[in-house]
Amino acid sequence: MNQNSAVSPETELGQPGPSRKVFIKTYGCQMNVYDSGRMSEALAGEGYVATDDMQEADLVLLNTCHIREKAAEKVYSALGRLRDMKNERQAEGREFMIGVTGCVAQAEGEEIIRRAPSVDVVIGPQTYHRLPEALKRARSGQSVVDTEYAVEDKFEHLPDQSKTASTKRNVTAFLTVQEGCDKFCTFCVVPYTRGSEISRSLEQIVREAEKLVSAGVRELTLLGQNVNAWHAEGETGEQLGLGDLLYRLSDIPGLKRLRYTTSHPRDMDDRLIEAHRDLDMLMPYLHLPVQSGSDRILKAMNRRHKAADYIALVERIRAARPDIALSGDFIVGFPGETEEDFQATLRLVETVGYAQAFSFKYSSRPGTPGADMPDHVPDEVKAERLARLQELLLSQQHAFARSCVGKTIDLLLEKPGRLPGQLIGRSPWLQSVNVDAKDVEIGDTIKVRITGTGPNSLFAEVA
Ligand code: SAH
Ligand code: SF4
Ligand code: F3S
Repeated sequence: MNQNSAVSPETELGQPGPSRKVFIKTYGCQMNVYDSGRMSEALAGEGYVATDDMQEADLVLLNTCHIREKAAEKVYSALGRLRDMKNERQAEGREFMIGVTGCVAQAEGEEIIRRAPSVDVVIGPQTYHRLPEALKRARSGQSVVDTEYAVEDKFEHLPDQSKTASTKRNVTAFLTVQEGCDKFCTFCVVPYTRGSEISRSLEQIVREAEKLVSAGVRELTLLGQNVNAWHAEGETGEQLGLGDLLYRLSDIPGLKRLRYTTSHPRDMDDRLIEAHRDLDMLMPYLHLPVQSGSDRILKAMNRRHKAADYIALVERIRAARPDIALSGDFIVGFPGETEEDFQATLRLVETVGYAQAFSFKYSSRPGTPGADMPDHVPDEVKAERLARLQELLLSQQHAFARSCVGKTIDLLLEKPGRLPGQLIGRSPWLQSVNVDAKDVEIGDTIKVRITGTGPNSLFAEVA
């Protein structure tokens, strides 16, 4: 998961006449990145233009994450700074509104206004289509809190993306296909902040995908807290899963690449594995979190599989798509985790071999079952285990990058590089690759040979 990435507005949302400016700060996962884009579009209808300079904003939205304690704390410290900005603006007689959206909004609701009274609106992830309306009400002086779970389909109430389709898009885009989670892992807030699992309809997804592609998108990443739990009814009433959706999307002319994230090991079905075997445009990179390698801890986490099941699953996926690279999430120091349990996690990592990974110290979240379990692990022990795990994961990541040197690969060009003549693209395995290339355009896929590795990217020459 991409933590705390500041998101710059994807589109220039031009409006005639005097306009207000909105700055959106995005925390947390890719689903929040997608939501920020959609909120920005919803606000365009109200005359708001997106800005990436907070100083010139009339409205600042914090699209927040509640996954770990630190993520939630960041929001309150940001709100302290925004309060000072608001006071300055109001002294000048200018409007300055503050909104909190996303998972902290959902989890804390009214509490946010109590702790930070300068906040004008608090809107949960299920109701952000009502943001323009809430801002109007808040302008009359009353703070608005709207954290209802979805009673209507927000996607149907958001502006049709065809209105923005004429605007030039990035080459890559996210598309939320599924939201919420019914898995209830005992450490996790997501089932509470995002509600229960909902899949968008096949038709709605295909329509949105086609519009994005006609606006210049070449690579789509399907998103869901539990994306491979996506299911829908097909035209003749048959049950469809994520594999079927990928086959369907692969028919869209002009679309070159597909990805999806985040998957739960329990929902990797045969059809999805077949899609990895059959679809060249489904990139050979899979984020498949396991969290722990200890069966005892996996059970306490309510992950509903054993370490051996995960390893066997990885083997099946690799048999279907031998060049697939794996990425994972890990938690160290879950309540009751012993040194032996932790060693099992290290062994699983050795067995699987990850190209990329995200690892965290367990963070106790009020309201989740884990918070009430006995034997919480002291912070020093968590820190020490995390350091050992990260050393191993980083060495695997570097080994994977080095193994790419000398290979000829397809590179999807995404943006200009820092130096003249340089371009930056993504490898099939999601690595950032720098290349010097002439007579090519952003959005082209070119063959390149990897020549070397840098700290966070690869170097290549045109093949
Ligand atoms: N749906 C995804 C995870 C979403 S949260 C899945 O099932 O894998 C992203 C990651 O944050 C999780 O994979 C987990 O590694 C981490 N995480 C979630 N809750 C956490 C907590 N309480 N403490 C530490 N890490 C946590
Ligand atoms: Fe959280 Fe587990 Fe659901 Fe992932 S599957 S979002 S970790 S409860
Ligand atoms: Fe965070 Fe909510 Fe995503 S808690 S990780 S922003 S689903």
